[in-house]
Amino acid sequence: MVGSQIAEVLKSRHPRFPEGSKVVAYVGWRDLTICSPDKMKAVFSGVLPLPDLKGLPNSYALGAVGMTGLAAYFGLLKLCQPKAGDTVVVSTAGGAVGSLVGQIAKIKGCKVVGFAGTDEKVKWIKEELGFDFAFNYKEVHLDSILKKFAVEGVDCYFDNVGGEFTYTVTRNMNEFGRIAICGAISTYNEDAKNNKVPFDYASMVYKQIRMEGFMINRWFNEWKDATLQLAQWIHEFDDNSQNPLSSEANARFYPAPPFRFPPSPPQPLLSRRVE
Ligand SMILES: NC(=O)c1ccc[n+]([C@@H]2O[C@H](COP(=O)([O-])OP(=O)(O)OC[C@H]3O[C@@H](n4cnc5c(N)ncnc54)[C@H](OP(=O)(O)O)[C@@H]3O)[C@@H](O)[C@H]2O)c1
Repeated sequence: MVGSQIAEVLKSRHPRFPEGSKVVAYVGWRDLTICSPDKMKAVFSGVLPLPDLKGLPNSYALGAVGMTGLAAYFGLLKLCQPKAGDTVVVSTAGGAVGSLVGQIAKIKGCKVVGFAGTDEKVKWIKEELGFDFAFNYKEVHLDSILKKFAVEGVDCYFDNVGGEFTYTVTRNMNEFGRIAICGAISTYNEDAKNNKVPFDYASMVYKQIRMEGFMINRWFNEWKDATLQLAQWIHEFDDNSQNPLSSEANARFYPAPPFRFPPSPPQPLLSRRVE
């Protein structure tokens, strides 16, 4: 696993990265880096200018205004397309992405039901982040909980886990429900060849459910607007206990966004990690 960092450009022959500018770089946790941004086109790789954080600390670009926040923002808004009054279910809801998904869904006026794996996380997402309902998925019967607390049916499911959990949520979805597949953490340690994920075809067909996976680099062209919106929400809600897109979520880290750059000749860059 390679970490991301905020870095200052020391030497540059690249017009988009002038000397003295700051970048978010998926280059590992190192002090000095020489790289050619235009050659770094693989998914989960790249260097991009530090977004306008509207006065927030730079570290936010590695968390809620970085890849983590963008996964929550794009996955929920583009694929789940939540409407006010919709019921949204979030798995790994106490994680870096899921905790933001629930908060954005609340901003959009949805009812949010989150599932996390410890009582501490459950308490946090319910009492501090404003989820309507939260449960420890290791201790509850998921189908019964959904029938009781999402009694009107699930409209949107933000899927971080896959497997049996997703199968059960799918069976509790409403007609024309939307599932955004962000991750499949319950299956990552499985041998992909033997990984027979349970899947409820009947619900998908009869309820006309749309299920779609995504990588955030799909929306590269909207990256700037999205980061501005996330930064604005944090400013608006950081002091508002009713609906905080809280700065606490920024304590979590995830590799920098896998953005691609438009084709141009490779240009080397020397950057230095900054605090
Ligand atoms: N598509 C994209 O562009 C994109 C971008 C970023 C992240 N992701 C994916 O999004 C997901 C969440 O990322 P994140 O950064 O929020 O993760 P994170 O903060 O590191 O959270 C990981 C959590 O997943 C839960 N977990 C671990 N094993 C599990 C299992 N077998 N079944 C159910 N839950 C399990 C654990 O929480 P509990 O205590 O709740 O069990 C763990 O703390 C990951 O699958 C990641 O790969 C995708």
